Amino acid sequence: MNSLQTNRPAHYKQNRMKTLWARGQYFLSLLKVRLLKQDVPVICVLVVNNKCNFDCKYCFGDYYNRRSEVDYSTEELKDLIDQLYTLGNRYLNIHGGETLLRKDVGEIVDYIKSKGIYCCLITNGALLRKKIDEVRQVDNITISLDGTKEHNDINRGAGAYDAAMDGIKAAQEAGIPVRVSATLTAHSYQDIGYLSELAKEMNFSLFFSILFKPLPRAKDCEMSNEQIAWSMDEILRYKKLGYPVFTSEMALNFAKAWPYSQNDVHFMREEDVKKLDGFKPIKCFYGSIKFTIEADGRVYPCFLWTDDFDALNWKEVGVKKAIEHVRKTNDCVSCPALSQNDHNLLLGLNFKQVVLIIKDQFLEAFRRT
Ligand SMILES: C[S@@+](CC[C@H](N)C(=O)[O-])C[C@H]1O[C@@H](n2cnc3c(N)ncnc32)[C@H](O)[C@@H]1O
Ligand code: SF4
Repeated sequence: MNSLQTNRPAHYKQNRMKTLWARGQYFLSLLKVRLLKQDVPVICVLVVNNKCNFDCKYCFGDYYNRRSEVDYSTEELKDLIDQLYTLGNRYLNIHGGETLLRKDVGEIVDYIKSKGIYCCLITNGALLRKKIDEVRQVDNITISLDGTKEHNDINRGAGAYDAAMDGIKAAQEAGIPVRVSATLTAHSYQDIGYLSELAKEMNFSLFFSILFKPLPRAKDCEMSNEQIAWSMDEILRYKKLGYPVFTSEMALNFAKAWPYSQNDVHFMREEDVKKLDGFKPIKCFYGSIKFTIEADGRVYPCFLWTDDFDALNWKEVGVKKAIEHVRKTNDCVSCPALSQNDHNLLLGLNFKQVVLIIKDQFLEAFRRT
């Protein structure tokens, strides 16, 4: 047996109705939190390890080179999940590093699902076929794929395209709804059409993000402002043609209208908004009801902030206090990141986005077999 396999099939039995229920519960909690103006971490990104089996040149986390850092024990992760649940969390995004490198990933996902929390997992796909029985209870799986084999592998390393494609097939054969997350770089932005066609042919939903904070070794991955603007139009074009592109028109238009160079300025504060007479930002809810918890225990508003934020570690002060610290000290009010803004529009209860997401969640739940 491969050392990564625990040979522990999922205990929680997932099905269409249960996944629909978890999605509904999350949405109702969100509605309550927003309407009653409650301070609740209703949605969180949980980075479960520092380890990665890939060394993607652009990766903001540089997880391949952090392999010596100590990861959470199973008990620590369960404690974190308990604390979050008690505070009102109903949506967890299991993130890495490479999530499937954790030997207990199935046990962790079982624990999350047994609490009725909506659970998604993101992976590069390489280990998914081997570990599918352990994680088949998740509500959906996101697999990273940036473009054609040639362009994807420039971004993500040799073999990454084949791994992602195999992962997509393995998840679909297991009846799990698949999302694909594509990071646009100078090497891959021209593959928007290729990915849209693939999404239609293989029946997955497609999410785009724009490269941010690439490692110094990946400066060649940075897009010019013109390439970014062209990409936003190209995604919109495929969306309007009816391809299964999830990224919303509002997030795309906002990224295009961002008043700075995206490679230089990734966020704005209240005083910046005031200076831009008449500029209407998409309001950010990261750091108020959505948080990112790193593999070392530090709690941030989002990944854009992991280098620059004076974060507290929940292992030292508890989850509640670490979250309160973010709420008190975070002064970021808006950014051009596509997936962040898709969530922000939902968390802000933007009517169009709420309708779009309810429809998408419903259709996705029915893609589970
Ligand atoms: C950090 S990875 C962790 C999960 C898993 N290892 C994977 O590759 O899917 C999560 C996502 O972040 C994206 N990503 C990594 N570095 C990025 C960057 N500098 N800008 C935008 N997205 C990035 C990856 O392409 C991937 O879709
Ligand atoms: S993007 Fe994912 S697969 Fe690539 S190095 Fe980062 S964590 Fe690993």
